[in-house]
Amino acid sequence: MEREFVFTQVDFERIRSLIRDRVGISLSEKKRDLVYSRIARRLRVLQLKQFSEYLDFLLVNDHEIQDFINALTTNLTAFFRESHHFDHLATHMLKQVSSSKQTFRIWSSACSTGEEAYSIAMTAIETFGTWTPPVTILATDVDTNVLTQAKAGVYGSERVEKLSDERMRHFFFKGKGKRQGSVRIRPEVQALIQFKPFNLLADPWPIKGQLDAVFCRNVMIYFDKPTQYKILSRFHPLLRDRGLLYAGHSESFQHAADLFKSQGQTIFKPVSGLLKQGVHK
Ligand SMILES: C[S@@+](CC[C@H](N)C(=O)[O-])C[C@H]1O[C@@H](n2cnc3c(N)ncnc32)[C@H](O)[C@@H]1O
Repeated sequence: MEREFVFTQVDFERIRSLIRDRVGISLSEKKRDLVYSRIARRLRVLQLKQFSEYLDFLLVNDHEIQDFINALTTNLTAFFRESHHFDHLATHMLKQVSSSKQTFRIWSSACSTGEEAYSIAMTAIETFGTWTPPVTILATDVDTNVLTQAKAGVYGSERVEKLSDERMRHFFFKGKGKRQGSVRIRPEVQALIQFKPFNLLADPWPIKGQLDAVFCRNVMIYFDKPTQYKILSRFHPLLRDRGLLYAGHSESFQHAADLFKSQGQTIFKPVSGLLKQGVHK
């Protein structure tokens, strides 16, 4: 089939290596068509004629790099996705806060459009029975487009159709008039979360330690094992001794058994006794 833009194997290889170096995403040969359709949109916006032109443009236009990254990330997510994690989190935070009397600190480290972080915030509000639970949530993603959506907290009604009526009434405003068909998360829920751009491949990490829970779900699958290990070795010193790492349903981390021990249900606890400083070096 004739394509709108010239896209050679060399172009594909250049894109693969650029996205792997920048954000860790490993694209298999099978992703050629996906890459074509995602990046073709950038060529249209920039009125370029072929992929090689776009790649040369990327080399000298730093500002385009973010759009390139945004185009190639996969942002599939949902409210209360893998819902057993939120049931587990509720018990974990109640136990930790009653014994330590400290604020429970959570990081949603690849938060996409925000549903994961908002589900954590709703869980905290329900668990402690207050709009101001003793919980802070940092939510980050490398994709700046999804973060803009996350901060806005506005979703199409189809995104919330699996939520209970009670949660809908409690946590969302329904759009009226021009906004019919969309919902907005209540500001009290938003107030618990700080959304920020962050690349898990960054060096160093500006995140302070003493975290009680890290959600790193459905992102490691895009990385190769050495990259996963490097990131896990950075999570390790940030977690409190009783802290937990929540991973995606297909993420197992057997290759990092020296760092994290499975608790079942893709929940991991840090192996204790490791030198907390510089474990990733
Ligand atoms: C499939 S979504 C998962 C969202 C959510 N954690 C969940 O499980 O529903 C994966 C997210 O990881 C983000 N991502 C990919 N590479 C990243 C990196 N190097 N640093 C931070 N986020 C990254 C993508 O932008 C995307 O929003």
